[in-house]
Amino acid sequence: MKLTARPSPPLAGVVRAPGDKSISHRALIIGAMATGVTEIDGLLEGDDILATARAVEAFGATVERLGAGRWRVTGQGGFRQPAGVIDCGNAGTGVRLLMGAAAGYPITVTFDGDASLRKRPMGRVMDPLRDMGAGFDADRLPVVQTGGTLAALDHIQTVASAQVKSAILLAGVNATGVTSVIEPVRSRDHSERMLRAFGAEVAVEASGTGWQIRLQGGQALTGTAVDVPGDPSSAAFPLAAGLMVPGSTVTVEGVMLNPLRTGLFETWIEMGADLTISNRRLAGGEAVGDLTARHSSLTGVVVPPERAAAMIDEYPILAATAALAEGRTVMRGIGEMRVKESDRIALMAAGLAACGVTVEEEPEGFTVTGGPVRGGATVTTHGDHRIAMSHLVLGLAAAEPVTVDEPGMIATSFPGFVELMRGLGADIATTE
Ligand code: S3P
Repeated sequence: MKLTARPSPPLAGVVRAPGDKSISHRALIIGAMATGVTEIDGLLEGDDILATARAVEAFGATVERLGAGRWRVTGQGGFRQPAGVIDCGNAGTGVRLLMGAAAGYPITVTFDGDASLRKRPMGRVMDPLRDMGAGFDADRLPVVQTGGTLAALDHIQTVASAQVKSAILLAGVNATGVTSVIEPVRSRDHSERMLRAFGAEVAVEASGTGWQIRLQGGQALTGTAVDVPGDPSSAAFPLAAGLMVPGSTVTVEGVMLNPLRTGLFETWIEMGADLTISNRRLAGGEAVGDLTARHSSLTGVVVPPERAAAMIDEYPILAATAALAEGRTVMRGIGEMRVKESDRIALMAAGLAACGVTVEEEPEGFTVTGGPVRGGATVTTHGDHRIAMSHLVLGLAAAEPVTVDEPGMIATSFPGFVELMRGLGADIATTE
């Protein structure tokens, strides 16, 4: 089965983005490390998160689904020895954060994942965890991890990765001493915020040219309520469609606006997008707002490389919008895109080129030259949800339909994507 997006009439409507994937993973994992009850509202019920929910259950937490997006995790104040393999599916965030969390307990865990996750680099997490005292029998999945007594670590980040930072901090919760992570460029700070919400003290301060995060080991975590805001990385797709399809006005409500996640929205505004934010408020300790995108004539820009961490998952959909913009959009300093769920630089370059777009690929970036888009291609997604959604959105605004393979993978981060887009008037249909 495949999905085909056809040139669509103006899109209109008000929708809610699914719960934030990063916060949903953390709520389940930290809830399971804590003592007592964590009630989660707005949890993303995507496949990645369901894998993490099964994992924390295997580690001894009680996990109950109370209703749509409403989950209760009862933590035992630590992880117990799981009976079987911890299968994280497609989720890099899930496995890396769980490795960090599990490292501080005297348990032996086999971690595994799907074909994509088995190819992704794990050394970036395993090396610092090894330095703290954990053991691993391989450098990629499947891997057997041995946890136990950990020593605190002073770590200087070489890749701007919130997953690596979070894994070290979660291990640091049970380490002896003060664990410190220095990041030259700030990455999303959801772990720091959530550890505080569970009662831990986490210090964050400017340090030289970067930021230092410090956490004293041995602090107790206590269950709490977590309100999960809408995922800006998912909201990006209906909003992009609003910008790209002539005559459209699309509003997405309750979108998280943590400044470490909003690089795409800044970039779109620099490109001339009619993107407005209303009803700014706080939800679950995060800034949120309602975003409205109206069809806009966009102009290509040079995206500052230092913005990469604040929009690393958004370059595929940015590239799709850039395909319709006037002039060149230059995206550099994004080598990390090559080690996501797929090599996203290569797949976006290939997919856009198949749709008639001029793309220049570089080792650590790519440049898209925009204009009217022909479309009329079937795009190989290598099971990558964001590659699929980006090309489907492009197909709504191209001259000819765009088809993607493996549409089932969209449910890893955005269950209900097709229905939501159809509700806005998008012509997306199943094809053979
Ligand atoms: C995430 C961090 C990012 C991002 C991923 C979610 C997180 O990965 O790509 O989808 O929740 O910490 P890196 O930190 O490895 O860049």
